[in-house]
Amino acid sequence: MGDVVVLLKDVWKTYDEGNNKVVVLKKINASLMRGEIVGIHGPSGSGKTTLLKLIAGLIRPDRGEIIVDGYNLNMLDDNGLAMIRNTVVSYIPQDYGVIDEFTVFENVELPMLIAGVGKEERVRRVREVLEYIGLYNKVNVKTKLLSGGERQRVAIARALVMTPSVLLADEPTANLDWNTALKVIELFKNIREDFKTTIVIVTHDPRLLDLMDRSFTLMDGYLKDTTYKRREL
Ligand SMILES: Nc1ncnc2c1ncn2[C@@H]1O[C@H](COP(=O)(O)OP(=O)(O)O)[C@@H](O)[C@H]1O
Ligand SMILES: [Mg+2]
Repeated sequence: MGDVVVLLKDVWKTYDEGNNKVVVLKKINASLMRGEIVGIHGPSGSGKTTLLKLIAGLIRPDRGEIIVDGYNLNMLDDNGLAMIRNTVVSYIPQDYGVIDEFTVFENVELPMLIAGVGKEERVRRVREVLEYIGLYNKVNVKTKLLSGGERQRVAIARALVMTPSVLLADEPTANLDWNTALKVIELFKNIREDFKTTIVIVTHDPRLLDLMDRSFTLMDGYLKDTTYKRREL
């Protein structure tokens, strides 16, 4: 048995939309292992982003338990969730969430500023992670001047700089051409090898699922492991 890093136990999530209650996630159960790369696929509006935000502790479930690298998120208050964000679990939003007016350095430094890491250490780690990602030549460039693929890599560097156990990437390849998308997936595979990170990649591109260790499909509120089905095709 491997080491379970993300455990979802009977997780439900409802949103209020005017007078309606919309049940987005129903009784979700899943175990993700250390060092695993998992794809989550599903139609637009099926709750993929909601699921990632729950695992990241950015929103809370109505019911159920979410345990991330030993932390039961229900037991943490907002400060507790802020403490584990980036150090235990990092979420990369679909629009990358990089700050345009900041340089690459300033964007990647941000989680360390929040965590209170000293200046010398920040400079050292920004350099280290940018060299790893292959973007150190752009360290002092404002991110608004970068290409889509480069901005995505800044977002990955920023998510990686506190060496979290879990990386959650929301449609990381949605705005990239196929070759650039493949390079991003290759980078995630290297990160998994080098840091044993568990990586969850949300995508609406079924071709990418073939590159993952396991894949899940989210539909009508239910999450199904569809790895086996895919291999049968
Ligand atoms: N903050 C919110 N308030 C109300 N409804 C929301 C909110 N966020 C998402 N939803 C609704 O929940 C459903 C799932 O959204 P989302 O998780 O973004 O799906 P996906 O990422 O698969 O496209 C959609 O119907 C969406 O309109
Ligand atoms: Mg989404």
